[in-house]
Amino acid sequence: MAKFILLMFICYHCGLDPVFGLLSKRNVSSESLSSLNQEASEGFLWNNIRLPQSVIPLEYDIFLHPNLTEARFSGKVEIKCVIRETTNFVVLHSKDLVISQTTLTTIPSNEQKEVRMQMKNDTDQLFLIMEDAIPKDAEILITIVFDGILGINGDGFYLSEFFTSNKSSRYLASTQFEPTSARKAFPCFDEPALKANFSMSIVREKKHISLFNMPRVDSIPRKNNLVLDTFQQSVKMSTYLVAFAVGEYKGKSKLTKSGVNMTVFYDRTSLMETVDFSLDAGGTILDYFNTLFEVSYPLPNLDMIAVPYHKAAAMENWGLITYRKPYLVIPINSGYRWKYRAVSVIAHEIAHQWFGNIVTMQWWDDLWLNEGVASFMQYLGLQAFDNDWSMKNFFTEKINSMMSEDFTNSRALNQPVAVPDFSIFNGVTYAKGASIVRMVRGLLGEKAFMNGIKTYLNQNKYSNVVSDDLWQALSNSSDDGIDLKAVMSIWMGERAYPLVTVRRNHSEIQISQEPFILKNNTTSRTTPIWTIPFQYGILDQQGHFSRKMFLLREETATIKISGHFKLVKGNYRDDGYYRVNYDPESWKAITDQLMTNHEIFSPGERAHLLNDAVSIFARTKPLNMSVVMDLLNYMEKETDFLPWFSASHSFGILIKLRLKDIKPEVKVLMQKFATVATKALELIENQLQAKENNKGYKDAMKEYMVNLIRRINSRVSDSSPSTLRPSTDKFTQKMD
Ligand SMILES: *[C@@H]1O[C@H](CO)[C@@H](O)[C@H](O)[C@H]1NC(C)=O
Ligand SMILES: *[C@@H]1O[C@H](CO)[C@@H](O)[C@H](O)[C@H]1NC(C)=O
Ligand SMILES: *[C@@H]1O[C@H](CO)[C@@H](O)[C@H](O)[C@H]1NC(C)=O
Ligand SMILES: *[C@@H]1O[C@H](CO)[C@@H](O)[C@H](O)[C@H]1NC(C)=O
Ligand SMILES: *[C@@H]1O[C@H](CO)[C@@H](O)[C@H](O)[C@H]1NC(C)=O
Ligand SMILES: *[C@@H]1O[C@H](CO)[C@@H](O)[C@H](O)[C@H]1NC(C)=O
Ligand SMILES: *[C@@H]1O[C@H](CO)[C@@H](O)[C@H](O)[C@H]1NC(C)=O
Ligand SMILES: *[C@@H]1O[C@H](CO)[C@@H](O)[C@H](O)[C@H]1NC(C)=O
Ligand SMILES: *[C@@H]1O[C@H](CO)[C@@H](O)[C@H](O)[C@H]1NC(C)=O
Ligand SMILES: *[C@@H]1O[C@H](CO)[C@@H](O)[C@H](O)[C@H]1NC(C)=O
Ligand SMILES: *[C@@H]1O[C@H](CO)[C@@H](O)[C@H](O)[C@H]1NC(C)=O
Ligand SMILES: [Zn+2]
Repeated sequence: MAKFILLMFICYHCGLDPVFGLLSKRNVSSESLSSLNQEASEGFLWNNIRLPQSVIPLEYDIFLHPNLTEARFSGKVEIKCVIRETTNFVVLHSKDLVISQTTLTTIPSNEQKEVRMQMKNDTDQLFLIMEDAIPKDAEILITIVFDGILGINGDGFYLSEFFTSNKSSRYLASTQFEPTSARKAFPCFDEPALKANFSMSIVREKKHISLFNMPRVDSIPRKNNLVLDTFQQSVKMSTYLVAFAVGEYKGKSKLTKSGVNMTVFYDRTSLMETVDFSLDAGGTILDYFNTLFEVSYPLPNLDMIAVPYHKAAAMENWGLITYRKPYLVIPINSGYRWKYRAVSVIAHEIAHQWFGNIVTMQWWDDLWLNEGVASFMQYLGLQAFDNDWSMKNFFTEKINSMMSEDFTNSRALNQPVAVPDFSIFNGVTYAKGASIVRMVRGLLGEKAFMNGIKTYLNQNKYSNVVSDDLWQALSNSSDDGIDLKAVMSIWMGERAYPLVTVRRNHSEIQISQEPFILKNNTTSRTTPIWTIPFQYGILDQQGHFSRKMFLLREETATIKISGHFKLVKGNYRDDGYYRVNYDPESWKAITDQLMTNHEIFSPGERAHLLNDAVSIFARTKPLNMSVVMDLLNYMEKETDFLPWFSASHSFGILIKLRLKDIKPEVKVLMQKFATVATKALELIENQLQAKENNKGYKDAMKEYMVNLIRRINSRVSDSSPSTLRPSTDKFTQKMD
């Protein structure tokens, strides 16, 4: 899924909540339906929230007849299964469905077994109990006939509403199954590791179209103006990736260079919108990933559909990605920032076609293998579409995660999940996950990293993985046999991240680590020792800046540098997920360098320096404020977006922290910030004027910065103490 954080940026799109006329008048509630399935309580044969491994699904054949006007559907599912261990019961999932008929036959003898049915509704488990056991290795066919309600909550098989140009309302029935709502549309073994091939047929009205993960192969007219569509069988996939849709929609197709039929489906309610942009972006990114990963996108089609109401920003269903409309159907004349956001979401969902769809996490506790890896790869996709939209913007993602980890009682990347819900789709899973991937790439180097990724995809395609599978594939491709499983274990198992302190002593560099804690929490836990891929840069006397790598495994270490050098800078290339502090002389060397030539450090590095300094200053044992003051000096020459974004974000956080003891200093810092901002603003406006007709990335970014800096100044210049009062949370929001 594309994460919800993106939604905070949507300001001009209204009507995100579903609006219902007809639906509220419906007669049947799902509560009354599910109660029909209750049987007299008796001891359940299986008391585990997870399904037993004795019966494994191989193929599903689904028939659905939804009626959008009546907000209900009826269906039948045939599930072919293999028996792994002799058993006399089957457990699968079903939720809010009325089951009217269940049969179980053995294959190939076609012998029908007596089954008794039980429903355990707290775990959504449906039990099929047989008179006698079925032996290991036998195959069975389970047939279930059911009815259900098309909900309105954006979950399961649900309805959402849109309006035609003359304001009459129309419905789209579509699906959102991740993490556990496939069971609301048809009974199934609803766990990600229980992959199977899916076939589908759907009854629809003539004026509607129907879509499934795979292309349609047949349409047979039925009486009453109905049509039966059947679809090609899917590849082996998880239940949460199954998707279908029915509605009065249109499509625009394009064959990508790699031969995939890509179609954007939309309701044509406004002439001021276009799908050409998303078709173009989607095609470019799909082709790029196809070449990059060397595992081909396996389906003949990739459909993308704009859904009127979507709980997330988008969902990566295999071959049928669903989007909240404004990410896919883009108003003509949309600005750069909107397009950037739309392509980010598109790139994220297309990355999932590999990371999530081809290779899937075994269980939800490794969700980061889907979301973290896709969030990293989306930047490569963005860059492929437009080179200006490069990896450097990654910083914003990372910093959001580093900051939010400080504030909330955040979780570790790898944390047990019994019942997956929407809370597991959080900033740690996405942004920290992506940052960890980026740090590993920095450690291995780009070539070894990509080789490992290809191995990981190839070895695990159509199958399921745990984190160690990724580490193993990457370790194998590393030149010096780095054991990534060992290196990454604390990163995976611990929340928060380390602070590395660098102390220079002549030609020696001493580095030490401790957990970075923004607010000192006296409930002390055991102190983790991370294995830190400490990438650092050495600027020599000739002005040559070179990269070094040191794997810090202990609390402290000493590195000897040969030859004289001007300065040492930690977190070279901004690849690491940690902060760096320095001794006062090293801070001074860095701030001096920023004054003479700040471009020796990348925009991401400059952004990170500012963010580190402000964050470390904000700690209970703060950095000397003069360091932050000195660092700010260079910003009057800063015309890049990231450092400004970073600094304003950091100051916002500083104010939010409400640290009483540094309040007067924060005020002084803010005034300094406003002073350099005023000077930089002049520079940026001049640059803008100099090439007035160029409406490219840089200018759009600069226009954004002009507004940002103006806001900073206006907040600071009416600088009554209230500017710095805790209630200025709006300040942070505004500056994002
Ligand atoms: C709802 O139920 C009532 C009474 O059972 C019935 O008269 C009415 O027609 C039903 N409405 C719909 C939309 O089915
Ligand atoms: C099923 O759900 C109902 C209401 O949601 C609850 O009262 C009942 O105890 C549940 N039954 C079982 C067997 O869990
Ligand atoms: C407007 O709605 C009416 C009735 O619902 C329909 O007959 C007509 O074709 C619609 N016009 C347009 C332009 O959609
Ligand atoms: C849905 O029900 C309406 C009557 O309520 C009927 O006209 C329509 O054909 C039905 N659609 C489907 C797909 O069965
Ligand atoms: C199921 O999908 C796999 C690919 O994932 C394919 O190789 C296999 O042939 C499919 N099974 C059937 C019965 O089509
Ligand atoms: C591409 O897909 C669309 C929508 O499913 C379909 O109408 C079109 O015929 C397909 N084109 C090709 C070349 O297969
Ligand atoms: C790693 O390399 C070893 C030896 O080359 C091989 O046996 C093993 O299968 C590889 N594992 C992975 C995950 O690539
Ligand atoms: C600095 O290094 C010298 C030797 O190179 C050593 O004698 C001295 O103790 C070191 N100082 C610190 C503070 O570590
Ligand atoms: C946190 O507080 C404890 C007890 O007051 C103190 O010993 C410790 O040094 C503090 N930690 C930091 C990082 O400031
Ligand atoms: C310290 O952290 C624990 C758990 O992370 C939390 O429950 C507690 O409220 C925190 N205490 C303070 C003073 O922030
Ligand atoms: C902070 O730095 C200033 C200027 O370098 C210095 O005068 C002051 O003593 C320092 N304060 C502390 C607490 O180290
Ligand atoms: Zn996602």
